[in-house]
Amino acid sequence: MTFGSSASPIDFEEVVQGLTREGYAVVDHFLDANEVAGCRSEAFHLSELQAFRPAGVGHGTDYQRAKDVRSDLIHWVDNQSSGPATVLYLERLQNLVTYLNRTCFLGIRDAEIHYALYQPGSFYKRHLDVFRDGSARKLSVICYLNDQWRPGDGGELMIYLPNDDGTEAARQIEPLAGRLVCFESTRLEHEVLPTHRSRLSLTGWLKDEKQFF
Ligand code: OGA
Ligand code: MN
Repeated sequence: MTFGSSASPIDFEEVVQGLTREGYAVVDHFLDANEVAGCRSEAFHLSELQAFRPAGVGHGTDYQRAKDVRSDLIHWVDNQSSGPATVLYLERLQNLVTYLNRTCFLGIRDAEIHYALYQPGSFYKRHLDVFRDGSARKLSVICYLNDQWRPGDGGELMIYLPNDDGTEAARQIEPLAGRLVCFESTRLEHEVLPTHRSRLSLTGWLKDEKQFF
C-alpha cells in the first residue's frame, strides 16, 4: 500500500517490514528535496528567532541538562504554530501512523516532535529513548534535513541490535536529506556520532498515551 503524492510515493509497508524483522526501518525520500528545503528554512527562521534551546535528558523532576551526554539544540513543534512545510511533514507522519495502527495494531495516539540542531562538534551518546519513570514512547521517528551529506561529515546515527546470544550488531546510518529512520524506542540503544557539519532533523516519538504532564 502506498500513500503520498505520485512524485514521491512512500511505501509504508517498507516501514512495517523493517520494524517487524529488525526493529528498525530506513525510508529514503520520505520528504522530497523541495519539502526538505521548506523545513530547513522554517527551522533556520526559528533559530534566528532564538527559538532553539539546549536539550536535556529525562523529564519532570528527573530532567537534567547533561551536556556530556548530548549537545544538540531543540525546538518543539505543533500543528498550530508551525509553518507549512513542517505541517506537511506532520501530516505525512500522521498517514504513517494511520497505516501502522491499521496493520500492526500499535495503538499510537499521540506524538511529540522537535527540530534538532547539532552544531559542529555536537553528539548524543549511546542511549535508549525512554525515561526512567516509564514512557509511552513506542517508536522513535527521525527525518534528516541535510543537503549534500558526505562520508567524513560525521553525525551518523548508530543503532545497536541485540542478538539472541548476547552479542550485538551495529548499523551506521547517514543523516541524508529526506531520509526517515524509525525504530522501537523501548528496545534499541543508539547514538549520534560527533558531527563535523551542522546537522538538522525533525525528531519525534509516537506514543500510545496522551501526554499527561
Ligand atoms: C534522539 C536521537 C538520533 C538522530 O534525539 O533521541 O537519538 O539521528 N536522535 O538524530
Ligand atoms: Mn534517541
